[in-house]
Amino acid sequence: MPAEQAVRLSFTVVVDNNVDIFLPSSGPLRYPSPGPQSMLLGAQGFSAWLEVEGPGGETTRLLYDFGRGGPALLNNLRLLGLDPAQADYLVLSHGHIDHYGGLRDITEAYDIKAPLITHPRTFGERGVKKPGGQVAGPWVLDREETAAWLGARPILADSPTPLGPGLWVSGGIPRQSPRDVLWPGGLRREDGQWQPDNLEDDQALVVNLAGRGLVVITGCCHAGVFNTIAAAQAICPGVPLYALVGGLHLNFLDAAQLEGVVAGLLEENPGLVLPMHCTGALAQQTLRNRLGARCPFTTVGMTLALD
Ligand SMILES: [Fe+2]
Ligand SMILES: [Fe+2]
Repeated sequence: MPAEQAVRLSFTVVVDNNVDIFLPSSGPLRYPSPGPQSMLLGAQGFSAWLEVEGPGGETTRLLYDFGRGGPALLNNLRLLGLDPAQADYLVLSHGHIDHYGGLRDITEAYDIKAPLITHPRTFGERGVKKPGGQVAGPWVLDREETAAWLGARPILADSPTPLGPGLWVSGGIPRQSPRDVLWPGGLRREDGQWQPDNLEDDQALVVNLAGRGLVVITGCCHAGVFNTIAAAQAICPGVPLYALVGGLHLNFLDAAQLEGVVAGLLEENPGLVLPMHCTGALAQQTLRNRLGARCPFTTVGMTLALD
């Protein structure tokens, strides 16, 4: 077996917009159930715990994104029995507050030893263009402040970076697929002026899982679904997509545009699509209708276990 493959993966949703404790666990998906886990909190944002085992039994543990801040992250980590002090890495997908907002909270609540890996363009002032033209924001992630929270400077990665056997953070994702319709609402303030933001800091996690294929994990997927899949396949040439997991940011697409995404995904023929967070209710419903059992429901507290 090539050293660049993983043999086992466990992915647990720590923060997501949706909580449902009445979903029946089946196959590789274990859902939370009534009892203490009834206290899991949903919140606008995303955070996931990932464990990836290599062929020699070595396991890489990481927390990918940190929710928006507020009680959800710490509450859910505790209820799910997850300990960020055991992480080998913290990875931030991009510089939006619904992904970095809880970072300071975990540095205060846990003895974090892991480095933070993110893209150099993650830092700065971001905003969102609202339908009437007003600007929401700014939300600011400052590099020096982040280093002070962590007690260490973030590791800045703008190209694919291996984190363990069969596990990479993608680095910046080229925009080349004509299938992707990119979100036009992002803004970045530079020299006091709001500018369109192409979210070049957006990064995915890529797992090359032996016997299955690529598991691509996204925060908001601002780079686009097909660009992100292509970036994963540039890291692992010739390996087919097995699973697409995370926020897909399709919430602004109309029905015809969503059909284009579905058609493209059907061509990729994934075994599993788990659309979460910012994917949007209509997009989630469309994906479930068209992909059937390959697109199960998602919730905070869900664990996907694959080997
Ligand atoms: Fe988001
Ligand atoms: Fe985002």
